[in-house]
Amino acid sequence: MQLTLVRLAGPSPQDSPGVRPIGECDLEGVGRLYAAAFPGGEVGDEATAIADVRASWDGEYGEWLPSASLLAEVDGRAAAAILVVDSPPWDDVSDLVFIIDLFTDPAHRGRGLGELLVRSALAAVEPGRVVGLRVEDENEGAVRLYRRLGFRERS
Ligand SMILES: CC(C)(COP(=O)(O)OP(=O)(O)OC[C@H]1O[C@@H](n2cnc3c(N)ncnc32)[C@H](O)[C@@H]1OP(=O)(O)O)[C@@H](O)C(=O)NCCC(=O)NCCS
Repeated sequence: MQLTLVRLAGPSPQDSPGVRPIGECDLEGVGRLYAAAFPGGEVGDEATAIADVRASWDGEYGEWLPSASLLAEVDGRAAAAILVVDSPPWDDVSDLVFIIDLFTDPAHRGRGLGELLVRSALAAVEPGRVVGLRVEDENEGAVRLYRRLGFRERS
């Protein structure tokens, strides 16, 4: 079953070293990371994943929010990313700022990068906006992370 989780944006934490907005020149690297993070083929092969990240950047899934769509780098290499849009094209969530995806390189998991990116993205969203995402309930690690950061099921 798919859950729809939401949370109010903010408050603003301090800037985090190693975390920066995704630039156009990062799209290929982020796409590669996307494919590596879902090795079961959920997002297709590398080329498909890169095309999907570019489609997100181009606004196919809502207005790309550059200040909240972030890349975490470890030793100068892409290690985790969060993709965030405003007004996604799905009726039940079209009023939200929406986390399209969050993913960490399998080699860098469990070190807090996912949490850091969600916190940093929340801090970059206009206060008062509600931030949402979809996650499979069986994705227990991700659900736990979001719940810990205050996300709750939408009533
Ligand atoms: C969900 C995901 C983004 C979390 O990224 P992360 O950088 O590992 O996140 P964090 O380190 O902040 O926290 C991950 C949790 O997994 C634990 N963990 C420890 N070692 C781990 C490992 N090797 N692999 C995965 N999780 C690990 C962490 O301790 C933490 O557990 P807790 O919530 O009980 O404290 C990452 O697992 C991932 O990319 N999954 C595949 C993509 C996905 O499902 N994304 C969510 C879509 S909504």
